[in-house]
Amino acid sequence: MLPRYAIYYPIHFLGIFITFMCIGAMCIYCKNGGVKDNNPSRKFLAITHGISLLLVMIGGMGLMKATGAAVNGFPVWINLKLVIWLIVGMSSMVIYKKPKLATLWFFIYASLGILAGLTAKFKSFEGYLNYFNS
Ligand code: HEM
Repeated sequence: MLPRYAIYYPIHFLGIFITFMCIGAMCIYCKNGGVKDNNPSRKFLAITHGISLLLVMIGGMGLMKATGAAVNGFPVWINLKLVIWLIVGMSSMVIYKKPKLATLWFFIYASLGILAGLTAKFKSFEGYLNYFNS
């Protein structure tokens, strides 16, 4: 039987990649002068963004179980990832509401993605620094 980690890891990543592709697509559409109501791919983006966020969460929960990360409650890095997930979840609303800031949103969401990834790998800032010192 496949270990839990090997199942949930690709689910987590599939969700992450599609989520951020949708965000990129919305940003470039708005950057090119598009508005929400006229977006021919509006429905597609709304549905894929929603489903992919769900995949991120299902994958994340599965990975939490697989690694035993949350046996004694949620550690700080998981809470941080949950907050990032929420912010990323509101991205479509935010981007369409302030389309003139599309370039800024593009880089803000990319940075949040990197932050979530680093958080999972190193767990804390100390862990990040120690990784390179050891
Ligand atoms: C948009 C939001 C998120 C992004 C971009 C993201 C990104 C990542 C990345 C890149 C990894 C792989 C790290 C590695 O293998 O070194 C990872 C692992 C993980 N993520 Fe997420 N994640 C997000 C949301 C979440 C959420 C909401 C949860 C919890 C419900 C979660 C829980 C986990 C866990 C438990 C791992 C495994 C860590 C380990 O192997 O020790 N993630 N995430």
